[in-house]
Amino acid sequence: MDEIKRRFEQRYLEGNTPWDSGRPDGNLIEILESYDITGKRALEIGCGTGDNAIFLSKRGFDVTATEIVEMAMEAARAKASEAGARCCFMLENIVENSIDGAPFDFVFDRGCFHSFDTQVDREKFVQSVARHMVAGGYWLSLIGNADDKRQGPGPPRRTATEIVTVVEPLFEIVLLKAGYFDSDMKPPPKNWILLARCR
Ligand SMILES: C[S@@+](CC[C@H](N)C(=O)[O-])C[C@H]1O[C@@H](n2cnc3c(N)ncnc32)[C@H](O)[C@@H]1O
Repeated sequence: MDEIKRRFEQRYLEGNTPWDSGRPDGNLIEILESYDITGKRALEIGCGTGDNAIFLSKRGFDVTATEIVEMAMEAARAKASEAGARCCFMLENIVENSIDGAPFDFVFDRGCFHSFDTQVDREKFVQSVARHMVAGGYWLSLIGNADDKRQGPGPPRRTATEIVTVVEPLFEIVLLKAGYFDSDMKPPPKNWILLARCR
């Protein structure tokens, strides 16, 4: 985990953050429009500089948003304040700590689950997500896709098998669809859009 934190701290320090498009991801918007996601308490894990958390807050969710990189979270706080959005930002690692405000009705992560390189770490992350949710609550995760054959930089890429193996024991998989991150990278990275309901 310390290694992941160091890696992301370095990226934010260098300004090497191609995921940071400055807008909410269209996949999040589409899923909220297409599924009956009830309940108001939302958790974003790994909120970066906050655009998705701000969007969720404006959509009427009570938003808690976590980060492990202070610099990113401070940027998120500033953006939310400028946008007049009320989000509760916390410098917390969900794998190691309990997040205040749980249980949540809806959990969102874009590019956090896919940061874990081993099955054991992915399992721990999924267990932590489930521990913070109501039964029947939805988790939407946007995950780099191993079928993306790009050369050079891009998000970590996972196979459907790697995802299902760790998610299905604790979640009912509602949707696992190949798509694209809403990104300014050309071409945009392929992703998996995972929507799962906590058992
Ligand atoms: C690829 S970035 C995406 C940031 C943001 N979700 C976005 O789409 O702009 C992944 C983020 O997850 C954060 N992160 C990684 N592991 C985390 C953890 N265990 N808890 C909270 N945040 C984490 C990183 O610091 C980083 O900001």
